[in-house]
Amino acid sequence: MDPSVFSVLILSAYAIYFMLPAYLANASALTFGGGTPLDMGRSLKDGFRFLGDGVTWKGTIIGILIGAVIGLIQGTFTGDLITNLLMVGDPAIGLMVQGTITTNTLHGLLLGLALGGGAIIGDACGSFIKRRFKVERGRPIPIVDQLDFVVGALILSSLIVVIPLYLIIVILIISLFMHLGANTIAYLLGMKNVWY
Ligand code: CTP
Ligand code: MG
Repeated sequence: MDPSVFSVLILSAYAIYFMLPAYLANASALTFGGGTPLDMGRSLKDGFRFLGDGVTWKGTIIGILIGAVIGLIQGTFTGDLITNLLMVGDPAIGLMVQGTITTNTLHGLLLGLALGGGAIIGDACGSFIKRRFKVERGRPIPIVDQLDFVVGALILSSLIVVIPLYLIIVILIISLFMHLGANTIAYLLGMKNVWY
């Protein structure tokens, strides 16, 4: 295989590993969320809801907790393994992303909290933006829907680790496709009635 193709594959695989707390926070908010909305039903002066019924207390709390737990697991159990695999597979990539790998429990917990919490906050900011543009809950806004949680996760986690630009770019591209893929599957399974 062309070494540059191989490097992109390795970097992509690592991007998914790094973002797992954010992806799983988002997925668990969707799976286990619902109930009382975070904005308690309140609207702003524009007559539209502050966030809407798609951002709930349960989803928010469970999402952040799951992010923290995944980060803790990564820091405690898989950080060293991933470091070794990267250094054997592609040392240049390994060195580039090394600063973003957590290899201890507390650091992993903090990074997971930042990625998971950032994802949930980013998603809520996306809902806030949608309501201000008078887009009803659940109606699509391309790019905002796909990347709000990713941008939130990247911003908060940047307080804890320095994320190289190449990794950020790969994360944005992969997340776009993963989100579209997940939505297509949910749509085909009848779990969603609009495809986007
Ligand atoms: N969810 C939740 N709490 C959150 C985030 C998500 O309960 N903090 C759940 C809600 O049931 C929500 C679903 O996950 O409907 C999907 O989230 P998302 O696609 O972001 O919400 P939408 O329903 O599309 O609403 P919005 O238009 O505000 O994005
Ligand atoms: Mg949303």
